[in-house]
Amino acid sequence: MPAPQALGPPALGWAEPTAADTARFPPAEIFAAGLHQHHLANTAYPIAHAETWRPYRVPRAAVEATTRRAFAPVDALCLYVHVPFCATRCAFCAYTVVEREEAAGADLYAQQVVQELTLYAAALDTARRRLHGLDLGGGTPTVLEPAAIGQILSAVHRHFRWAPGADISIETTPRIAARAPDRLVALRALGIDRISMGIQVVQPALLRTLRREAGGIGEQRRAVEHIRRAGFKRLNVDLMYGFAGQSLLSWQATVAHAIALGPEAITLYRMRYKQTRLASQAGRVTLEQIHQQTTLAQQVLGAAGYAAPPGKTTYCRVAGETGTSAYLTQRVVAGMPYLGLGLGAQSLSPSTLAYNAGAASKRLAPYQRALAAGRLPIQDLYHLPARQLMAKMCAVSFYFGAIDRAAFAAKFGQPLERVFAEEVAFVVDRGLMQLTPRALALTPAGVAQLNGVIALFYAPAVQAHLLRLAADGGHGARQGAAGSRPRSLAFAKDGGAETRA
Ligand SMILES: C[S@@+](CC[C@H](N)C(=O)[O-])C[C@H]1O[C@@H](n2cnc3c(N)ncnc32)[C@H](O)[C@@H]1O
Ligand code: SF4
Repeated sequence: MPAPQALGPPALGWAEPTAADTARFPPAEIFAAGLHQHHLANTAYPIAHAETWRPYRVPRAAVEATTRRAFAPVDALCLYVHVPFCATRCAFCAYTVVEREEAAGADLYAQQVVQELTLYAAALDTARRRLHGLDLGGGTPTVLEPAAIGQILSAVHRHFRWAPGADISIETTPRIAARAPDRLVALRALGIDRISMGIQVVQPALLRTLRREAGGIGEQRRAVEHIRRAGFKRLNVDLMYGFAGQSLLSWQATVAHAIALGPEAITLYRMRYKQTRLASQAGRVTLEQIHQQTTLAQQVLGAAGYAAPPGKTTYCRVAGETGTSAYLTQRVVAGMPYLGLGLGAQSLSPSTLAYNAGAASKRLAPYQRALAAGRLPIQDLYHLPARQLMAKMCAVSFYFGAIDRAAFAAKFGQPLERVFAEEVAFVVDRGLMQLTPRALALTPAGVAQLNGVIALFYAPAVQAHLLRLAADGGHGARQGAAGSRPRSLAFAKDGGAETRA
């Protein structure tokens, strides 16, 4: 294979790539490995940090200085606050949610997040940076009392300046929205602009199997009524597909029900099995099932006035709007840096990616101990080469089905189509993506083979891992499951909405 192209001057302090990250693999092999490992090759980048990113791990003693240096050039950023509490843990969920015995810590949690923000404010001089969006995610942030959320928001207002167009978004469950209407009113009064609620599926039997609250359609309607009465004009509803045994008919009913609730946006999450209690079921879900479900959803949503370009996971019925929070939009389209506060939260600078304590263990104690000692609660910090950061940006971009060319060039100093010349030729020649003046965008054929396409933009060390998994033959979703999970292998949350990654 030809030598990799130089990636421009390390103006942003990128790390030197290891030999593993200067390898080149034939696009056709990577594409096939991504399709084979379709339960793993998705927007949640990277795969198996503990192994694939080990050479880039920053020693503990250098974490704070490296973080300060890494954020120094940042003027514009987003903020994410993770709230790791839920009434119960759903069987399909691998997000950072604490176990019941630690949930008693919820009372103090907002204070701890404020303490973390104060540490960042001192270390990074946040007052001179502009905040483009704030997401309160989880877990279930509406588990917290509005007064506690108010404490967090006051600290954010104190320490940052807001950019025009910024917004604040929060996640809830139907049960909380249905049973605590006053809480919604208080949250709206705090200036929260957008609310996102997980419906997942409507069938009571499937919800029971998923150990998900099943208050029924009536509860969900009440929840929406309360959300509207509280004054929220931007409501998103999350749905999930790709469950073993989830029929096309039942999926159609779920999508129709979500439309009837009248949200401005509907986000479709394909079930990610890695590190969940359902990991052993991944092998029962074929790409054919996924393809049928996404195609059907697109048709039904389109007929109801919800639009999305090919591959975008959030459908929106408001012309000119993305349907996502400003936080997610900026992360996906611009590759904007973000600070993640709270248990297991992820932060991205122009040259580093960090995971807070608790990302893998899902325990509060180490996070609290770090704060008590006056330290940033970062457990794993990776100082990355440009190629890994490019892969991160590209993988996350697939939430919107397209990689923004101007944003990529601005971030890395080189055109996307030059850095990924072979890969771009591969996807364009096969009709999987098209180059428009604005973006490299998925076509419907690319959507159907998304996992192969995404893998093409992964960095070589991660591609090599994927090739090894494909050669081993399994579907890979059990990789990293409890018991065999490497310490720092976290389920990446891109949003959210994975979007989260
Ligand atoms: C943090 S959760 C949502 C907030 C809230 N706790 C709820 O469940 O309604 C965000 C969304 O992630 C999605 N999700 C959870 N686990 C997932 C998984 N294993 N794979 C894909 N999506 C998942 C669900 O659709 C969920 O609504
Ligand atoms: S899906 Fe939502 S409610 Fe269920 S465990 Fe995950 S974060 Fe909690």
